[in-house]
Parts: sequence; structure tokens; C-alpha cells
Amino acid sequence: MEKTFHITTFGCQMNEHDSEIMAGMLLEKGFVPVKERKDAAVAIINTCSVRENADKRFFGTLGQLKRRKMENPDFLVCVCGCMMQQQHVIDTIKAKYPWVDIIFGTHNIHRFPELIDNALSEKKKQTEIWPDGGEIVEGLPSKRLHQSKALVNIMFGCNNFCTYCIVPYTRGRERSRKPQEILSEVRTLVDDGVREIMLLGQNVNSYRGEGGIDFADLLYLLNDVDGLERIRFMTSHPKDLSDRLIQAFVDCEKLCRNIHLPVQSGSTEILKKMNRRYTKEAYLNLVEKLRKAVPSITMSTDIIVGFPGETEEDFSETLDLVRKVRYDSAFTFLYSVRKGTPAEKYEDQIPEAVKHERFNRLVDLVNSISMEKNAKYVGTVQKVLVEGPAKTGSSIFSGRTDGFKLVNFRGNADMVGTMADIRITGSNTFSLEGEVL
Ligand code: SAH
Ligand code: SF4
Ligand code: F3S
Repeated sequence: MEKTFHITTFGCQMNEHDSEIMAGMLLEKGFVPVKERKDAAVAIINTCSVRENADKRFFGTLGQLKRRKMENPDFLVCVCGCMMQQQHVIDTIKAKYPWVDIIFGTHNIHRFPELIDNALSEKKKQTEIWPDGGEIVEGLPSKRLHQSKALVNIMFGCNNFCTYCIVPYTRGRERSRKPQEILSEVRTLVDDGVREIMLLGQNVNSYRGEGGIDFADLLYLLNDVDGLERIRFMTSHPKDLSDRLIQAFVDCEKLCRNIHLPVQSGSTEILKKMNRRYTKEAYLNLVEKLRKAVPSITMSTDIIVGFPGETEEDFSETLDLVRKVRYDSAFTFLYSVRKGTPAEKYEDQIPEAVKHERFNRLVDLVNSISMEKNAKYVGTVQKVLVEGPAKTGSSIFSGRTDGFKLVNFRGNADMVGTMADIRITGSNTFSLEGEVL
């Protein structure tokens, strides 16, 4: 058998990192990655369940693989990720997409190499889903997407059960890695050329490591790692963002002055129905506290439009909150019904046309603020970690500022992985333009 593979990844950074781990395991088995799925002997699709369009794209992709499988029965189709933790999805795959060879979930990606071996030696389909995460498996290899920055899981799962959200069902209960495991992984990454890490967890604020180490403690420990230059994290839930975390922004020079703080709605009434456990006022106070302690901090958020029962008045509270906070950027989503979540049963679902109309108004507001915020950077000099060409082969390179602003500038391959001083010469809604000093 030809040993080539291709991974298609849907969803968030958790999935992105899981895909890096699967790539790492396949490389260890002598497989090589190929750029196009059509050239691969093993195709892997890592799925996301968070909204309905993610589901739809997955089934569309599976449909496309049927012909390939008919032409070449040795071609292996593997599916994994959050959708596989939902029984109805497994049932649909078995009934309608019988050309799938290997099915596994979010809790057992370390078992993937063995499942491939079994599929090949037994010439039989493999399905292995674990209902929940057991002991955290350490020491898995990973093939990073970027040479100079890395994703680092600090915890898995979620206990918050926001009423719209599927993640607690697909990723299981919260489990934190040991601080020593995280530190030793980060040291190894730094030795391998990594300068920036992004700490991952559905709610990093509830990290609880061995020895009573909390998230703020972990940041202080990581701030002392020699050779590491930048620390970011994602995501932090507003309900338990501590004063000590705010203080960490002041004390830890490696911690980037940027926070993603999902608000979801500006209406206290809707927040209650979402089970978010904070009010509009509490959120605004938190923002004020953060800005007082760290005036240069940039902020982004997630907002859901059209949650069941959202009135025009509730929605205007969201617009009001956005005007008050003035986010650097915001991810806006149309509420999407998820099977098995409490909000699926709520009767006052909002008509699609109303959702879209509100969504458009929100996006216009968010974008006009982003534009104004970005314009303020023109004329300043920013330190940017150079990531690579903006497009393959282009002489325009891109990187991020400390505040997570994307900057495009004329550069060269030697700059990749270095910190460059860039003078900002122009601004757009989603990026800045500059020139190397
Ligand atoms: N743990 C992260 C979020 C993970 S999901 C947090 O709590 O911030 C990423 C985003 O998807 C959420 O912040 C939310 O805005 C959005 N989202 C989740 N479920 C959704 C649904 N059913 N419909 C629309 N958007 C949803
Ligand atoms: Fe979903 Fe809420 Fe958990 Fe985030 S905190 S993953 S939105 S349930
Ligand atoms: Fe992430 Fe989607 Fe799963 S957002 S945790 S890949 S449902």
C-alpha cells in the first residue's frame, strides 16, 4: 500500500491540534502527507458539530469520496472528531455512507494508528467510540502547522453546559493536564524553534492542575520558560475570570495583551436562558477592570444572534453592549439548533428571516468599529511574529502583533519565525498593512 495521507479539519483549534497529533502519529508510522486529498491513500476528516453548516459540509465531503472509493477499494476513508461522539451521526454514516472505513471519536485519537493497522490486516471496517475521556494520554507526537508557534492543550472538555452548545456532549467533562506535563511540552517546543504558544481549553479559567495550580499560576510558571517569547490562551469564560488572571496580564511580560472573551448576548435575560451565569453589567464591569489594569489590551468576542426568545429589545441590548465595549473584532453566529441540547426544546425559536436581518445589523456595527480601531494603528511601529507568505509563493508576508492584529507586508522567507518591527502604513477591517523597518 502507498503510504500517503491527507487530513481535512473542520472546527476550532482543539480540532486543529488533534489533526496535528494525528499527522504526528502517521509520520511515525512512515506515512507522508500530500497536499490534495485526491492523491492520498488515507483520507481523514476531522469533524465539528458546533453549528449545522459544519455538519452539512461534512456530509457533502463524504459524498465526494464515494467515487474515489469505488475506483480504488484500497483507499481508506477515516472520520473522527466531535460529530462522531453523537450516536445519530454514526447511525447516518452506517446507513448512508457505507464507504467509510474507520470511525473514531474525540477521546481516543491515540488509538488511530492501531485502528489503521486493524483495518488493513483484518480487511474490516473499524468503529471505536469512547463515551467519555479517561486518563489523559501524554507524550503523543505532533506535526505542527507552524514552525514558530504551537497549540498546547492545557485541559480537555467542558462542564458549563451553555444551553445552545454541543461541546460538553462531544468533548466530555473537564480534565486538566498536570502543570509539569505542560511545562515540559513547552520546553521541548521552544527547543524545537517555537516562540509563541497558544494555550487551549474550552474554559481555561477553570484549569485546576495537580498541587492546586490554577490558570493564573500556570501563566506565571510559563512566563519563566527561557526562550519562549509569547503566550496566548483561548478561551476564557467571563463568569470566572479572576482578578489574579488580570494581574497576570500586568506581571507576565510574555503574556500577549489580548483576550478573547465570548459574551454571546448583551441581554441579561437571554444570558440567563443560555446558562452563561453572568449579567450584561457584570460583563461590562469585567471589561472595564481589564482595560484599567491593561490599557493597551485588545479584545475579541463571540456573539450568537437569534437565540430562542430573543426579542428586538434583547437584540438592541447586544448592539448597545458592542457599542460600549468596542471590540477589536467579533465572531458573529446565527443561532443553530443542536440535537440533544436544552435549547433544542425551547419553543420560541426565531424565524430565519429575523435572525438574518439582526445578524446583518450586528455585522455592520462590529465591522465599522473594527475599521475605526485598526485605523488608529497607522503610523505606529508593531512587533510582528512573521508566519509566512500571505499566499503560497507571494512576496507579501503576514504575521500577528502582540494584540493579535494580522499584518501584511513585503518580506522574504528568511524572516519566517522571527520578530520583525513593522511600521503600519494602512488599515482594513480585518488586517493592517505595513513595511519592514
Ligand atoms: N468554549 C468556548 C466556545 C466554543 S464554541 C467558549 O465558551 O467561549 C465557539 C462559539 O460557537 C461559541 O462561543 C458560540 O458563540 C458559538 N456557538 C456554539 N454553539 C452554537 C450554536 N448552537 N449556534 C450558534 N453558535 C454557537
Ligand atoms: Fe460550549 Fe459554553 Fe462550554 Fe463554551 S463554555 S464550550 S459555549 S458549553
Ligand atoms: Fe471545536 Fe467544533 Fe468540537 S468548535 S470542540 S470542533 S464541536
